[in-house]
Amino acid sequence: MGYNVAIDGPAGAGKSTIAKLVAQKKGYIYVDTGAMYRGLAIHFLDQGIQANETEKVILACQDAEVTIQYENGVQQVYLNGRNITSRLRDEEVGNMASVTSAIPQVRSKLLELQQNLARTQNVIMDGRDIGTCVLPNADVKVFLTASVQTRAKRRYDELCEKGIACDLKEIEADIEQRDHRDMTREIAPLKQAEDAVLVDSSRMTIEEVVDAIVKLCE
Ligand code: DC
Repeated sequence: MGYNVAIDGPAGAGKSTIAKLVAQKKGYIYVDTGAMYRGLAIHFLDQGIQANETEKVILACQDAEVTIQYENGVQQVYLNGRNITSRLRDEEVGNMASVTSAIPQVRSKLLELQQNLARTQNVIMDGRDIGTCVLPNADVKVFLTASVQTRAKRRYDELCEKGIACDLKEIEADIEQRDHRDMTREIAPLKQAEDAVLVDSSRMTIEEVVDAIVKLCE
C-alpha cells in the first residue's frame, strides 16, 4: 500500500491547487478524481445525453473508458483514447459531472480505478468521498472548505483573468446548487470523514494551507 492522503471538500475550495503543490513538495502523485467524473460527463455530452436521462447515462457508461496518464508530471485525462484534458473545466462539463456522479453505476465505474492508483503508489487524491469511501484507511485525511462567498470570488477572478464574462451572483448561486447536490445525494455524499482534519481556507493563503497539510503528512 502506498502512502495515501485524502482531500475532500466542496467545489472551489482550492483542493486541486493545494493538492498539486503538496504533491510536488512530498513527491506524491496527484490524483484528481473530479477530472474522472468530468471525463465521463464529456462522454455523455458528446452522445447528446441530457443530465436527467439516467437510463441513457447508465448505458453510455458501458462504452466509456477514462484513463489517467502523467506526462511531465501533469495529469492528462483520456476518454476512449482521446485526450480531453482541455475540456475538463468547462461549466457544462462540471454541471453534468455533478448530476451524473449521483448515479451508482457511474461511481462504481470509477471507484476501482481510483483505488488501484492508490494501492501501489504514494498519492494525494482529491474529491468528495475519498476519506469516507474511496480510501477509508488513508494515512492523512483533510476536509478542505471555504465560505460560499470566498469560493465564488475565486472562481470569478479566475474567469475574469481568462477574459470570460461572468456574474458573481450567478457563480454564487451555481456553487450553492452544486454543494447541495453533492451533499444530499444518496450515494457517497460529500461529508467530512470522522477522522479528517478540517481546514477552512477562507482566510488562509495558499502557502499556509499547503504548509498545514504538509505538516500533517510528517
Ligand atoms: O472536483 P470537481 O469540481 O472537478 O468535481 C466535479 C463533480 O464530480 C462534482 O460536482 C461532484 C463529482 N465528484 C464526485 O462525486 N466524487 C468525487 N470524488 C469527485 C468529484
